[in-house]
Formats: sequence, C-alpha cells, structure tokens
Amino acid sequence: MRRADEDQRLDVVATVNGRERRFSVLPRLSLADTLREELGLYGVRTGCEHGVCGACTILVDELPVRSCLMLGVQANGKTIRTVESLAEGSSLHPLQEAFRRHHALQCGFCTAGILATSQALLAENPCPTREEVREVLSGNICRCTGYQTIVDAIMDYAENGQAGVAGGERGPAE
Ligand code: FES
Ligand code: FES
Repeated sequence: MRRADEDQRLDVVATVNGRERRFSVLPRLSLADTLREELGLYGVRTGCEHGVCGACTILVDELPVRSCLMLGVQANGKTIRTVESLAEGSSLHPLQEAFRRHHALQCGFCTAGILATSQALLAENPCPTREEVREVLSGNICRCTGYQTIVDAIMDYAENGQAGVAGGERGPAE
C-alpha cells in the first residue's frame, strides 16, 4: 500500500531551456522522468537509470548531471538545459552539425547525453586534445559508433566552430 505522502505533488519552479517553468511533481519521480513526463522533453533518454550509461545527461546550472540520479523536485531554483535547447528553429547548433557531418551517431540514443557532456567540456576547455575528449566521454556509453567519429566531431567543432558548419554544407573537406 502506498503511503499518502508519496502521492502528494510538490511545486517546482525552474528555468528550463531559457524559459521559467512551473510544475508540480511527485517527490519520487526522477528528474529524467520529470522532464519527459511533465515537460514533454523527450530528448532526455534513460538507458540504465543507474548513473552508468550517461544517456540521461543534461546540464544543470551548466554542469553535466545524470538526470536519472536526481529527483525532479531537486530542479527547484535550477537552470536546466536539455538537447532541445541546442537547435534554433530548423537550424542545428554547430556542434550538432559537426555530429551530422562526421556521422557521430547511428541509433542516436546516446547522442543527447554526449552533446551535453561535450557542451560542458567545451565550455571549460574550448581547445581539448583528443585524449581529453576521450577521457571526458568515458562516462557516456555508445553501442553503435565505436566512438571515433564522436571524437572527430567534437574536435572539428573545437577547431573550426562556425567555420566548420559552412564547410559541412558542402560535405567534409577531405
Ligand atoms: S539513464 Fe542515467 S546514466 Fe544511464
Ligand atoms: S549512436 Fe547508438 S548508442 Fe550511440
């Protein structure tokens, strides 16, 4: 039998993808499930719900966080960014564009988490080495790509930024 307080929703106010959002959430719901079920942000994926795979990684106050290991109520007062914040209309963010250009995704299930981890890395270290990228990405599991192209995409973005996007429209310059 459920305890009564498990069914009592708590009010949360958070800035989510640049907008103030007010919602109420059951205290036992993870942040990942909260973002999906309460706010319709289905770009947030859960692959393990144990903090291992990294698929649920989002930015909370600009730091990468496993949203499966945080409760929705803990979002109160926080600034949250999910993969939905990256593109502008139908224009991909340059980092997303680099992923497309380098074939850095196949099934795409890991991609949102890897983009969040990459954003945090690049904010702290705009010119990482391949080894540094690999080290930081070691907490994000991908079953499809073999990782090489993901590192390629991040390095391309780090080295060329917006210029890489313009090149991307014409395909990789190889
Ligand atoms: S679903 Fe959160 S780390 Fe795997
Ligand atoms: S693209 Fe399928 S898990 Fe990474």
